[in-house]
Amino acid sequence: MNFKLSTSLLALALSVSAANYKRVSCPGGTHTASNAACCVFFSLADELQATKFDSECGEDAHEALRLTFHDAIGFSFMGGPSKGTGADGSIMLFDSIELQDHANDGVEDAINSLKPLLQNFSVTAGDLIQFAGAVAVSNCPGAPRLQFLAGRPNATFPAAAGLVPVPEENIDNIFARMEDAGFSPTELVSLLASHSVGRSDLRILNRTGVPFDTTPFTFDTQFFLEVLLKGNETLPPAPGEADAQVPNALAAQGEMRLQSDFAVAHAPQSACFWQSMVNNEAAIQQGFHDAMAKLAVVGQDTSKLIDCSEAVPIPPPAVNKPATFPAGTGPQLLQLSCNAPFPSLATDPGAPTTIPECPNGDTNIGDCPS
Ligand code: HEM
Ligand SMILES: *[C@@H]1O[C@H](CO)[C@@H](O)[C@H](O)[C@H]1NC(C)=O
Ligand SMILES: *[C@@H]1O[C@H](CO)[C@@H](O)[C@H](O)[C@H]1NC(C)=O
Ligand SMILES: *[C@@H]1O[C@H](CO)[C@@H](O)[C@H](O)[C@H]1NC(C)=O
Ligand SMILES: *[C@@H]1O[C@H](CO)[C@@H](O)[C@H](O)[C@H]1NC(C)=O
Repeated sequence: MNFKLSTSLLALALSVSAANYKRVSCPGGTHTASNAACCVFFSLADELQATKFDSECGEDAHEALRLTFHDAIGFSFMGGPSKGTGADGSIMLFDSIELQDHANDGVEDAINSLKPLLQNFSVTAGDLIQFAGAVAVSNCPGAPRLQFLAGRPNATFPAAAGLVPVPEENIDNIFARMEDAGFSPTELVSLLASHSVGRSDLRILNRTGVPFDTTPFTFDTQFFLEVLLKGNETLPPAPGEADAQVPNALAAQGEMRLQSDFAVAHAPQSACFWQSMVNNEAAIQQGFHDAMAKLAVVGQDTSKLIDCSEAVPIPPPAVNKPATFPAGTGPQLLQLSCNAPFPSLATDPGAPTTIPECPNGDTNIGDCPS
């Protein structure tokens, strides 16, 4: 090889790698960033962890994660641009309008908690919502570290009503709505790993914090298993929104099962993918990471966004425990709509146990049902 050419190639390689390693110091001196535009997100992460989430996978973190979906899904290929511009902060900027949609019941908690941060941090509402969700789920053991791209413009008008799916909806309409925002049935399965850290505050009368699985503070595959357990039909649906629920095997311990989760678990388009998530922590991590990366930029021009994923905290590792049938249940309760072999799982010994109400036994009111 020509000597002159190879030295110039070497010089080029060195300057490229120097550019990669050059970081800017952020104001305040605590953080450095690959791009000055990311500095504000390091400070915002500190603020969220200290004053909103207590660095825990508790109620406030769950609500912030849910808000990412309710903002982003405000987009429709069929309806055209006037229906909404996706992950654009419209649910926060036009909350008095979007919250009239019953599907958004409950998201006001996260909006009221996060919105004041717009006064103190120079970020747009869409960036705030997606970043807060990424920081929130980083507190959940087993969660993937989500991608975060910065630079969504503020929404200039609200999303249309009717774009957020509701749990009582039939499965064809749910799939059609997701498809209209760019998501396949299996991508919906991946997104629903979020319900592994979810509880309902509104669907059951007089009860808050009604969990969707026995481990609502860890990002694990118990949710995918427990949704497949045949419900106890002798227990009537809990008073409240009967249509939103289907009977579940752990009602006596306070669990609930959303009609929509049940329907996705059994639909021909998604049943095998759902089953393949059981006891496959790596698969829910990868699937959720990729589907959330897509959700977070619905309607956005990603060529104009800057990668600030480095400001998202690194989540604690997964709890090192395979999925198990909760005590009092077992493989005899499995109701499967896919022919693939099902993993052989142990059953927790002893009598049915209660589902914890707060992460790490922390009775901080913000993390427990009120
Ligand atoms: C078919 C789609 C979906 C339906 C019908 C649905 C429905 C629901 C319902 C009814 C609740 C309980 C709300 C309450 O009573 O407080 C809930 C909670 C939740 N949802 Fe979904 N959801 C869907 C998809 C998603 C997706 C894609 C995400 C991803 C970010 C998500 C994240 C959450 C979280 C984190 C909670 C728990 C909130 C808390 O614990 O306070 N959901 N969902
Ligand atoms: C914003 O900054 C002001 C002035 O420093 C402070 O009083 C207020 O508590 C801050 N609010 C939030 C939400 O951090
Ligand atoms: C976005 O809207 C918020 C709330 O009104 C405001 O504080 C912020 O400055 C806006 N950002 C831009 C870039 O317009
Ligand atoms: C719910 O709470 C209200 C008010 O305290 C009470 O009147 C009602 O009986 C309760 N219903 C159920 C089903 O617990
Ligand atoms: C269903 O619930 C009832 C009432 O709690 C209980 O007696 C019964 O054993 C349960 N059946 C199954 C199959 O778990």
